[in-house]
Amino acid sequence: MSADCLIVANWKMHGSQQSLREWLAAVLPVAGSLSATAVLCPPFPLLPIACDLPVQGVLKIGAQDVSEQSTGAFTGEVQAELLAECGCEMVIVGHSERRARHGEADSLIAGKARAARNAGLTPIICVGESAEARADGRAQQVVGEQLDGLGDVLGAPCVLAYEPIWAIGTGKSATISDIEQMHAWLRGRLPDCPLLYGGSVSRANLADTLALDCVDGALVGSASLDAEHFNDLLRIAG
Ligand code: PGA
Repeated sequence: MSADCLIVANWKMHGSQQSLREWLAAVLPVAGSLSATAVLCPPFPLLPIACDLPVQGVLKIGAQDVSEQSTGAFTGEVQAELLAECGCEMVIVGHSERRARHGEADSLIAGKARAARNAGLTPIICVGESAEARADGRAQQVVGEQLDGLGDVLGAPCVLAYEPIWAIGTGKSATISDIEQMHAWLRGRLPDCPLLYGGSVSRANLADTLALDCVDGALVGSASLDAEHFNDLLRIAG
């Protein structure tokens, strides 16, 4: 684990104004006392509320998606400049749920990452293979193709999250040896890019995952919704 460990809470389509306030009240004192960096990515309407609370210097706020366009007639989309104006510092792009449900291709994801960076946001770019690809021994090949499709957007400041699709929301995290193999290979390709692991991260498996040299943090879904569970993850990250 690197010195700048990043623990990112991806709330997906969960939460409310009330639960956000309660979560922050519980998490901010813990996040402020540790050196790991905590990031909260709530649904869009909660972003201005989160950014207005005293999170500065304690917790970073991120969005879960962004448009690749800068402004214009794009109903339902949100531009990176507006996220930055709200106080966001990061944005998740290319999550497998968006790739699957919205047909997002690597070229679009690269455009989103580029738009984020142009607005001063750090993109957290997600990659990962399906269960079938892993069973066929093609995990590295599939992730490699995703990286190729993203192109030069990976060269500039960004964070990469390796999230095997079969481990997301299943309670079945990748094994430590699977994570180590994939991350060591990713480190070889992207020496300057912080590498997160995501997929059923919990207090039961985070310590072993972060003990790997080539893991710089975690992208956490379900276990991030409960403030006490998330606080335990922060304490493990230190
Ligand atoms: P999970 O989700 O921790 O619930 O598996 C992770 C993610 O999708 O980012």
